[in-house]
Amino acid sequence: MTPVQDARGWLAERVPLNLDQLTHFGNEPVPNHLKRWWFCLGGTPAYLFLVQVVTGILLTFYYVPEPGKAYDSVRYITDEAAYGWFIRGLHKWSANLMIVAVVLHAMRVFFTGAYRKPRELNWVVGSCILGVVLLFGFTGYSLVYEQLSYWGATVAGNITSAVPVMGDFLGAMLRGGERIGDNTLTRFFVLHIGVLPTIITCLLFVHILLIRLIGVTEFHFADEDPEHPQHFPFFPDHLLTEMAIGVVLMIVLTCLVCAFPPGLGERANPLVTPEHIKPEWYFFWAFRWLKLAGLKAAVVTQGLAAVLFAGWPWIDAAIRRRRPDSELSIFVGVVAFLFLLGLTLWEALA
Ligand code: HEM
Repeated sequence: MTPVQDARGWLAERVPLNLDQLTHFGNEPVPNHLKRWWFCLGGTPAYLFLVQVVTGILLTFYYVPEPGKAYDSVRYITDEAAYGWFIRGLHKWSANLMIVAVVLHAMRVFFTGAYRKPRELNWVVGSCILGVVLLFGFTGYSLVYEQLSYWGATVAGNITSAVPVMGDFLGAMLRGGERIGDNTLTRFFVLHIGVLPTIITCLLFVHILLIRLIGVTEFHFADEDPEHPQHFPFFPDHLLTEMAIGVVLMIVLTCLVCAFPPGLGERANPLVTPEHIKPEWYFFWAFRWLKLAGLKAAVVTQGLAAVLFAGWPWIDAAIRRRRPDSELSIFVGVVAFLFLLGLTLWEALA
């Protein structure tokens, strides 16, 4: 017996799992179109999430979630702790790139119609992931406790309070009181480092499990024979591609952190409202819409848009039952994308 067989036998006696079945389950043949990055974009946010978990754990060694100390602890991390600026920069940039990657992945799924039967539920799971990723960004930015993040959180508190029926309750739950204060920071911290990571881990587990059980949508390109679809093994081929993408992402992240290291704005002052409140760029569209539509209308329309987004597979199916060749989803996707881009640019340039 070789030492590897010995070790396998030893493990099999103590953990009686069928390793061959498990290897088979994890080693699905992957369709050829996943060789193109646009089609295997799902691995990119997964990798960036790992970077965030590792750098996030390192940041919590020094971050202090108390209103009087939070800002100084971030300043300490940025200016004094060994490689603190680099770790904080990696955390910040990977968060931004993750949002870009998740949106691009959702767009790929949308524009290729890969959310259609039997993948509707996975689209809903993905929609929840998108919401959680945005919440990660919001709670993380608020932890810095600088002027803009403090007042951004104040606006978010007002938005939450404007939710019909449960608004007052939700606003009070989020803030832990009338105003952003000691309780709020503790809640944002617990959400950011405990609740949201747990939720996203569970959602990702279900997302990947459904992909593995149903398989990914098969696409065929002009140079392929649809009668004989080609596949390649997940291990080692696809895993090696994903790892190569990971190395490239690490180089990109390092360049971004060195070229644009993380800074720090003014310390939060609850008594002075800044002249221009601006959220992070990924909320520009929502903020501009808030200014245009007013608080109540913006909350209701954005809530409705979120429901339409998550329920799109069923809306699309209803449309295609009447008109099987309808490509209305492409039209709706393009219009929605241009609308959100327009709002984002408008807010960015204002
Ligand atoms: C951290 C976030 C996410 C991760 C790590 C992730 C991961 C993945 C992976 C690895 C795949 C396999 C194919 C590919 O790589 O494209 C996939 C497919 C899929 N994802 Fe995601 N995903 C995320 C977010 C989302 C979001 C936001 C949506 C939609 C709103 C979504 C909907 C789907 C659907 C419907 C499929 C099946 C596509 C097909 O059959 O071709 N995912 N995801």
